[in-house]
Amino acid sequence: MSAGPDDRRAGAHLPVPLGWFAVAHSDEIAAGEVRTLRYFATEFVLWRGKSGELAATDAYCRHLGAHMGAGKVVGELLECPFHHWRYTGQGAVAEIPYSRSIPPQVRRPCIKVWPVAEANGLVYVWHHPRGVDPLWQIETLFPDGEEWKLHARHSWTVKVHIQEINENGVDYPHFVSVHGTKSMPEPQWKIDGIYRRSVSTAKMQTPRGIVDGTIDSRAIGPGQASVRFTGISDVLLLNSMTPIDRFTTQARFDFYYPARLEGSAERVAAAVARDVVGQFDQDIPIWESKRYEPDPILCAGDGPILHYRRQYAQYYVAD
Ligand code: FES
Ligand SMILES: [Fe+2]
Repeated sequence: MSAGPDDRRAGAHLPVPLGWFAVAHSDEIAAGEVRTLRYFATEFVLWRGKSGELAATDAYCRHLGAHMGAGKVVGELLECPFHHWRYTGQGAVAEIPYSRSIPPQVRRPCIKVWPVAEANGLVYVWHHPRGVDPLWQIETLFPDGEEWKLHARHSWTVKVHIQEINENGVDYPHFVSVHGTKSMPEPQWKIDGIYRRSVSTAKMQTPRGIVDGTIDSRAIGPGQASVRFTGISDVLLLNSMTPIDRFTTQARFDFYYPARLEGSAERVAAAVARDVVGQFDQDIPIWESKRYEPDPILCAGDGPILHYRRQYAQYYVAD
């Protein structure tokens, strides 16, 4: 795939990162369903056995190459649509309806299998360009002490590399220039291994007077992130970025409120969520036309862009 005449446009220097990435919402794939997914510059099938167990396996059958996204789930097995060979979630052939024997090469795992995990209402798949097993585990993003209810989901396909989207959170001046906030955020931030956290506090003017507001952003690896807004309202955003390929990213925003919220408090929370979605919409045209600047010239007032990039570099390995 070509990035166009200027090779730096659209993050052409950046590969697809490794990590856990959201590929679906849990309630989008029922027991007995199979779906074809396109992420990590490849195609695979996600399917759920009758017991509820999920599997992510290669799209193509080792027999004569049929696409198993057109197959069906039989019990705990995925059945190829062509000659009905049936695969386990570990990628081995368990049944061939017309044959007395199963070839030894396919009796053991013979197609690629992606590790899958479910948490936070999402299905995550582990991607590593060399097929290395997960280097960390998926974590819950719901803060303790509250019961959370889903308010709204949004998703976008953005023509930019995933690293450029996540960099937005540490790009402080753009909040004023692009989003029109009154002042630049001045968060306390910390980067540690696969974890990144930044906490901003601000005095917010409301009809009920000045309220102390907090914006607490966390990221775990390149694909799991959350933002909790407290003070003027109480909103939890799960923001999940997933690379479709080196040039395209799927963004999912899931907004949750504490279950106790109702009435005007819920309307304020809805306004916060709308504002966040509006900000994302404002960023898209800039992302989709910018180029990746591998050696940016920064100035006083810029956020910790280079710290962020150094942390992100750990998610790249040569193919
Ligand atoms: S191609 Fe899949 S069973 Fe023949
Ligand atoms: Fe932004």
